[in-house]
Amino acid sequence: MPILVPPGQYSPKRLHHNGRLKLQQFGPIVRENLPGNTNLVYLFDPEDIEAMYAKEGRYPSRRSHLALQKYRLDRPHMFSTGGILPTNGKHWWELRRRAQKSMNKVSAVTSRLPQVDEASGAYTMAYVLYSLANNQDKQDLLALEARRLLVGSDGKVTTKVLSEARYLKAVMKETYRLHPISVGVGRVIQEDTVIRGFRIPKDTVVVTQNQVISRLPEHFHDPQRFLPERWLHKAPPAHPFVVVPFGHGPRSCIGRRMAEQNLQTIMLQVSLPLMNSDLLVSSCLQLISRYRVGWVGGELDCLSNLINEPDAPLDFTFTDRE
Ligand code: HEM
Repeated sequence: MPILVPPGQYSPKRLHHNGRLKLQQFGPIVRENLPGNTNLVYLFDPEDIEAMYAKEGRYPSRRSHLALQKYRLDRPHMFSTGGILPTNGKHWWELRRRAQKSMNKVSAVTSRLPQVDEASGAYTMAYVLYSLANNQDKQDLLALEARRLLVGSDGKVTTKVLSEARYLKAVMKETYRLHPISVGVGRVIQEDTVIRGFRIPKDTVVVTQNQVISRLPEHFHDPQRFLPERWLHKAPPAHPFVVVPFGHGPRSCIGRRMAEQNLQTIMLQVSLPLMNSDLLVSSCLQLISRYRVGWVGGELDCLSNLINEPDAPLDFTFTDRE
């Protein structure tokens, strides 16, 4: 396996650019040796990513958000745990089980939502609008769908409306492909594993590179273009482990359902009264059905902080649609 000594051309704030360089220089599996003799292994092939998930075991483990964990554990008067994201093992499972229960009670979830999760939704929303603003023909198609569905429901975003919003879901999927909230997912390998013929010892940290591979021509035709239509065919356009915006398996995003419902609702109807301002359950079908969204900024990329965030001001314009 190629061994990489960082030569100084990598930026800690652009992990996806680093990933692309590593793939170009070293190929689909790369080991990076960090100070302290920590090995990181990067995976760029969806088959290998699938193989990694297949070995994650009962308590999948990740090594991330350690600063967040320290922050919380140093403040026992405010937090009773390090939080689900960085905690591992049986303790993680207990936290997850408890959180899963409260996901059913919306009020409980709002009070526990870490800011990072609110940011995930807000940044995804920004990238959806950015993509639509720069692809007016796609925005018009979504506006047509929004108006058709909302006329039939008296302007309300009902479960039926959401279930029938096919073009909106394709828009969301295409946005996750081009602008995911994380470069990939990390796992600490639980047992010695062979991937691509290389032995990965137990406790190695493996990081999947979905953000990089989601823009490769071997997986998607015309990969830099925003084409929601590619998700409307019966057969998925690529290997299922290329675009995995919420992760996979027992440690996948616990807030996926809620996040998706909220984003779709916002897309459908921006002007209804806020049902819950914390959850951003406000009013993108109605937003798009009422307003034409434009963009007067330059190209929007992302900076890698705790999650990927827009790297420039959000220069949108909103004008009434006839
Ligand atoms: C568009 C919005 C969101 C995206 C794209 C997103 C994405 C992700 C991803 C990629 C992971 C890592 C999964 C893995 O390691 O396999 C994750 C984990 C997590 N997410 Fe989200 N997320 C979003 C919104 C939310 C919301 C609204 C909540 C809170 C209700 C939330 C709570 C969590 C938690 C607690 C974890 C850690 C789960 C665990 O370790 O067991 N996320 N999310």
